[in-house]
Amino acid sequence: MNTFIIQRHKVIHSIITLCFLLSYSLTNAQQSSNIHSKNTEVKIDSIISLLTLEEKVSLVHAQSKFSTPGIPRLGIPEIWMSDGPHGVRGEINWDNWGYADWTNDSITAFPALTCLAATFNPSLSNDYGISVGEEARYRKKDILLGPGVNIYRTPLNGRNFEYMGEDPFLASKMVVPYIKGVQQNGVSACVKHYVLNNQEEWRDHINVKVSERALHEIYLPAFKAAIMEGGAWSLMGSYNKHNGQYCSHHDKLINKILKGDWGFDGVVITDWGSAHDTKEAILNGLDIEMGTGTDGLTTNQKNAYDNYYLAYPFLQLLKSGEIDEKYVDDKVRRILRLMYRTTMSSNRPMGRMNNVEHHEVARKVASEGIVLLKNENNFFPIKDDKNLTIAVIGENATRSMTIGGGSSELKAQFEISPLEGLKKIYKNATIIHAMGYASGPSAYAKVLPSTLDAEKLKTEAIATAQKADIVLFVGGLNKNHHQDCEGGDRLKFGLPFGQEDLIDELLKVNKNMGVILVSGNAVEMPWLEQVNGLMQSWYLGSMAGQAIADVVIGNVNPSGKLPFSFPKKLKDNAAHFYGDISYPGDSINQEYKEGILVGYRWHDTKKIKPLFPFGFGLSYSSFDLTDITTDKKSYTPKSQIKVTCTVSNTGTKDGAEVVQVYVGKSKSKVQRAFKELKGFNKVNLNAGEQKTIEVLINTDDLSFYNESTANWQLETGNYYIYVGNASDHITKKIKFTIN
Ligand code: BGC
Repeated sequence: MNTFIIQRHKVIHSIITLCFLLSYSLTNAQQSSNIHSKNTEVKIDSIISLLTLEEKVSLVHAQSKFSTPGIPRLGIPEIWMSDGPHGVRGEINWDNWGYADWTNDSITAFPALTCLAATFNPSLSNDYGISVGEEARYRKKDILLGPGVNIYRTPLNGRNFEYMGEDPFLASKMVVPYIKGVQQNGVSACVKHYVLNNQEEWRDHINVKVSERALHEIYLPAFKAAIMEGGAWSLMGSYNKHNGQYCSHHDKLINKILKGDWGFDGVVITDWGSAHDTKEAILNGLDIEMGTGTDGLTTNQKNAYDNYYLAYPFLQLLKSGEIDEKYVDDKVRRILRLMYRTTMSSNRPMGRMNNVEHHEVARKVASEGIVLLKNENNFFPIKDDKNLTIAVIGENATRSMTIGGGSSELKAQFEISPLEGLKKIYKNATIIHAMGYASGPSAYAKVLPSTLDAEKLKTEAIATAQKADIVLFVGGLNKNHHQDCEGGDRLKFGLPFGQEDLIDELLKVNKNMGVILVSGNAVEMPWLEQVNGLMQSWYLGSMAGQAIADVVIGNVNPSGKLPFSFPKKLKDNAAHFYGDISYPGDSINQEYKEGILVGYRWHDTKKIKPLFPFGFGLSYSSFDLTDITTDKKSYTPKSQIKVTCTVSNTGTKDGAEVVQVYVGKSKSKVQRAFKELKGFNKVNLNAGEQKTIEVLINTDDLSFYNESTANWQLETGNYYIYVGNASDHITKKIKFTIN
């Protein structure tokens, strides 16, 4: 045979082999349940052996805003991604940020992740993950860009609403079931933004300096849980730097910790435009580059994607032999593995969208996440009485909160506003409404002020309040730039758009006021003393108005607990205490000077009383925690502490209470937070009912990260367990020892 025939022969043989491999994957039902099987790895290796260098490189970078190419000649599919995390984002154009205006991409909007965290209900998080994963699957997405687990460090961070609060333990417990839920649909969750992206100001370059201890104890645990317990198949690097290196191609964070210590076998994806250097991207564990140069093909390059750091420049280094082929093979191997788990998985369900079950999950998360913060003289629930006139005042009563906010923006099939929800549920009482203030339309990276007459809006609102028995002020923040929105931080801690002044004016004509705060962040509340009721509502998605109305009228008894502390003033927050270098930094560097004392760890340890503490939330019922005991008085390393507690609903309404178990170390040889959350259990109880519950704590989880050995260390000696229903409301303290 001449060489031409031999070559042809080889190609045909290769194609037959590959067709066999791919079709095998599609027919073998066991395959995707056994994704780590040796078989799959063998198949992946065979596929890699068929790929040219050009083809390998093509797989590791974008071909459009939200997809990477396949290898058409071999039938290897493309990978399609979508934001996340609260629903599947509307279709974006191939090569610019405009919406493609499809007519089949309206979805169910689920509540923001702050709300999910506030439920303290991991099983609900699993329902959420399953549902949003089903919608992603139905929309033919292979990767859902979420959930986000960056830690709530400052109330000014514009993206806190997308995350799960200030506590690494709570975030870890809530993120794992979400990921499992999404991935059971054959859709990869993509946990983001790894790591230290705790503010939007200068996010694309700020160099974060943080102690190794705080990194490991506060900022990494939720990512670690997402990978090691949740089994996330992909992860998104953050924009910022850490110790001088961009996090999306960071040797320590990716090579050592993520892929080394945690054994991550999935795909590291950049944030959109977070790659900055070809060699670092190659060597430091980045697998897929997305979003470099936001204008994509509109630059004068023939094909901008070919010029990505992991495209032509990578190919050249491979061809010249400067970079060993094993680097691209490792990336391709991970990508093919992700394909076998998603788009090439044989028993992938079909997904579903906008079904009643999803609406019900959205409603349930929303109503379980609402936190009742103040309830003077049982202001809430408000009875439906025909002699009652309720004035609903505030822009957030009618404003869409699925629009705006940046990449988490959604095209919701419907979104029930608070006003609609209230009008629907109150059949006898009269509901009147005034907007009161206006914020202007939402736009990315710019503020468009309202063109409405602010004085007129205020006058109308005062007249409306005057006519009513009750005022429900529905205000807070929104999804505009410099509010709760990606790409910028809030500029002040107080309520924006003249709301503080408006509340004062309204109170002059009607003192019977309750506030429903719609936000993803804490705000300053100079008006708190004067209002009778306060409810923290988050961005609640499609079923927002119904969930709010259900809680306001009392069909749902509130059971949400704050996933972060509300400081009285900004300086009371640890990040702000240390001044500009701590937040927002000097535009180049930033130092997390508070170290491990983030959130309630700071308030507790420094004895700075917050306005509302972490873990706090009222109910229409009352609960007692009694008979709180531990199974032993002393424990050994690698054992389990069993905390038992009897919870009684002593009120007249069915409800739920969250038993929270914190642990503190006395006389530690290192700095410690006064106490840290180590377990919780949400218990549903009918009125008068009583249940005994257990919370299990692994003694190893009481270890601190020892910087000198770069390892976790469990100290022996005395510890205290604190059991209560809020971080500042401890019913019982129990001493125990570890030896
Ligand atoms: C955001 C990511 C998002 C990506 C794609 C980035 O600006 O930080 O969270 O997934 O855009 O929209």
